Amino acid sequence: MTLAPERTARPSAPPAAGEGPSQDGPAIGRAVDRVDGLAKASGTARFSAEYPIPGLTHAVLVHAPIARGRIVSIDVAQAEAHPSVVLVLTHLNAPRLTPPPTRLNPMDLSTLAGGSLIAFLNTDEVHVDGQPVAAVVAETLESAQYAASLVRVSYETATATADFDAELPHAKAVRSMPVMPPTGGKRGDARAAYAKSPVRVDLSFTTPQHNHNALEPHATTAVWDGKRLTVYEGCQNMDWTQKFLAKRFDLPASDVHVVSKYVGGAFGGKSKVWAATLITCMAAKVSQRPVRLALTREGVYRTVGGRTPTRQRVAIGASRAGHMEALIHQATSRKGRVGGDADQITACSLDLYDAATILAEQKIVELDLMTNTAMRAPGEAQGSFAVESAVDELAIELGLDPVALRLMNQPADKSPVHGTRYSHRRLAQTLEEGRDLFGWADRPAPGTRDGKDLVGWGVAAAIHPAWEFVANVQLTVDATGGATLACAFHEMGMGTATVVGQMVAYCLGVPLERVSTIYGDSDLPIGPGAGGSGQTASLAGSIEKACQAMRRRLDALASKAGMPDGSDPAEVLTRAGDQSLTVEVGADTGPKATWGQVRFLSKMVMDSRRWMKAATGAHYCEVRVDADTGELRIRRWTSVFDVGRVVNPKTTHSQLRGGIVMGLGMAMGEETLIDTRTARIMNPSLAEYHVPVHADVPHLDVRTLDDPDPQMPLGILGAGEVGIVGVGAAVANAVRHATGRRVTDLPLTLDRIVG
Ligand code: MOS
Repeated sequence: MTLAPERTARPSAPPAAGEGPSQDGPAIGRAVDRVDGLAKASGTARFSAEYPIPGLTHAVLVHAPIARGRIVSIDVAQAEAHPSVVLVLTHLNAPRLTPPPTRLNPMDLSTLAGGSLIAFLNTDEVHVDGQPVAAVVAETLESAQYAASLVRVSYETATATADFDAELPHAKAVRSMPVMPPTGGKRGDARAAYAKSPVRVDLSFTTPQHNHNALEPHATTAVWDGKRLTVYEGCQNMDWTQKFLAKRFDLPASDVHVVSKYVGGAFGGKSKVWAATLITCMAAKVSQRPVRLALTREGVYRTVGGRTPTRQRVAIGASRAGHMEALIHQATSRKGRVGGDADQITACSLDLYDAATILAEQKIVELDLMTNTAMRAPGEAQGSFAVESAVDELAIELGLDPVALRLMNQPADKSPVHGTRYSHRRLAQTLEEGRDLFGWADRPAPGTRDGKDLVGWGVAAAIHPAWEFVANVQLTVDATGGATLACAFHEMGMGTATVVGQMVAYCLGVPLERVSTIYGDSDLPIGPGAGGSGQTASLAGSIEKACQAMRRRLDALASKAGMPDGSDPAEVLTRAGDQSLTVEVGADTGPKATWGQVRFLSKMVMDSRRWMKAATGAHYCEVRVDADTGELRIRRWTSVFDVGRVVNPKTTHSQLRGGIVMGLGMAMGEETLIDTRTARIMNPSLAEYHVPVHADVPHLDVRTLDDPDPQMPLGILGAGEVGIVGVGAAVANAVRHATGRRVTDLPLTLDRIVG
């Protein structure tokens, strides 16, 4: 292994206002610059398609242009005749793989890692438009691209079902998945309470499909060295990727080595193993050459899942004073016939308000489209748009201030549906602080005009559950006083490597500049997946334990040498004549790993019965709407979050800003368009799928309460996803305030605003 450790402290630019010191004070709470920042800004950081590999070949996929059917014939002669072509891989010559599992096994969470159930290149069946039916491997990328155009495939087509709305009558009820947040819940008889409520709103919402557009499109480099497979791939879960590939290729997990040092954004899109990864590994096996496959932007749309569209209904009944008597949230999403999951769309409605009765339920339909997958706050992002829009409409109906209405209906200390205690609940405080920072008291009258613009102010609340996964770490202290933390965690740009160093320095009591981290390689102790905003808290738990164990070992050595407890590690080791001392937390192999999983699952189940832990927040925004054209501009934005303890205000606030920007994409432009006749995505490019650009995003004033959660490691709740929750509603509510029009369909395009 040639992994260079990274030092945590770098010379820092002055921190932004409200972000605290970058150089002084305790290692936690400092706005430390990213340790990987220089490598990324200077272009020396290597992403998965950038490793120099001798004898490397390049693969290009051939995608099926049909949505459903069968390959009748496949003619590869012309492609194979190209002098640069090394291999044309099809279902006729690809190695047989063990099929992906159809069920989740809680004892082996890598069973969750399959992007779809399709047996890629192991079948003549076509299940979705864009399914890879061949891969051409050549000495150069250009030759592979050209030769791929020479592959001739003929198909027998079958009818595909791709019209979400047409299938709604066939939707099936969703049962909550084990170990996942609930997709439904019930408190009392909400239907009856709604019918009796004096004030009622009942709205229907739609949100479209979204697709992943991480800065770094998915790329895989696969190298077989004898029996061992090395896969360079930016992913969110090296452990799952390793185990999933090992099962498919019938190898022991130790024979699959996953390198994932840097990841150029993922947002849920790299938490599963998609077609291109499997095919790259197959191609490398057959050609006995290293193979690289870097998906084009369109390739990502065709072969990686996106966010499910939704159809939702939210009905709220209230007393005239504004107390919620009934909250009903019903949602339907879609999956692929060949895989995908139900996002927890209604979960946010279980914990935002203390309605006297609550009913949350979900349905799902199956379509002949690419499977859906996680995308930043999967479920809460879509569900919060509906419920937080409906609450705004209720405030208007009641003639109440929307902030006051939200504050009036906050649960005290217990989750209304499940009765579990909140580990701590600061949603009201985020609403109040945001209100004051934004200057909500000066909210203009509805429909206020400024020149040709209508001005509107909107508010919405956010909630996202807190997760804690298994993390094995290895901590070494050396006789010079340096500390090194090794763990296969994921640095996807959010600052994990930086905050890990800060947590080690804090827990061990050593200077930040003496801490190094080694990460991003499956040969290291198994880290947590980077998902559910749970990576930092998961690492914190193990880092705390490792540092305590290290302290005990050092103190034992110190007392032998007649030194007091808490002596300087370098002095203790020097006195003892030891070069270094290593402790490990967790165990990753054999029966111990199984026990680790059992302990993890039982702790998680016990914990979820006792506590409801969640990050929360409140968004405030001002929009301008051109009264003639409906052109929407976001002018001002303030958000306050409770994410528990903030290890690094700079990276944490960046994460939250990123979430808000992605929410602005949802609100204003992002929409995957599917031709329901062909089951084909019509806008698989950044030219036609509109993500926010700089001109769309105002300065985002983001604050955090920095209030440690008593039930989470180091008090950390997690910050990646709560930022996007509620953003769509905050914008829609501001548009309602500006124009008087309630837009219930995302995105808020001009036609919908003008009507
Ligand atoms: Mo995520 S959507 O947990 O990467």
